[in-house]
Amino acid sequence: MLSDSMAQSINSHLNTEHFSAQLYLSMSSAAGVMGFKGAATWFMVQYQEEMAHFMKFYNYLNSQGVLVKFVAADIPNEYHSLLEMFDKTLIHEQHITKAMNHLMDHAVKESDHATQIFLQWFITEQVEEEENDRDIIGKLKLIGDNGYGLLMLDNDLGRRVFVPPPTAA
Ligand code: FEO
Repeated sequence: MLSDSMAQSINSHLNTEHFSAQLYLSMSSAAGVMGFKGAATWFMVQYQEEMAHFMKFYNYLNSQGVLVKFVAADIPNEYHSLLEMFDKTLIHEQHITKAMNHLMDHAVKESDHATQIFLQWFITEQVEEEENDRDIIGKLKLIGDNGYGLLMLDNDLGRRVFVPPPTAA
């Protein structure tokens, strides 16, 4: 059973995952408009991953008999370069990592073992997400304005495919 306070915290985070999904879909659109079709695919896959995260939280709340409440969000859509988008992606993911740690702290404080086990997968996932973003940012900084380098990286980014996380249904 979830406490009201734990349910509220999880519901709030569910909305953050939904925001993340829309943020990356917006970045996919921006990358496509800039002519980076590979990056557009990368961000589209990121959108799919975030929707899967969102659904995990949605299903967790439903399985505990909690009514999900949605909040509206303004989604930024002005970007000027791939580097800017990936910098903002890393900053956003670092924010998500902090939020996930706070959720875990909350679950530990309440001795809510089920929620701690549920959150464990996300805690590990965040390490991988931040590492991927740092890796791409490093490459973009090396490439700078080199058109050939950008083209090669864009091709690489376009190879990303969506792999549903376990129990994302
Ligand atoms: Fe759902 Fe990128 O964290």
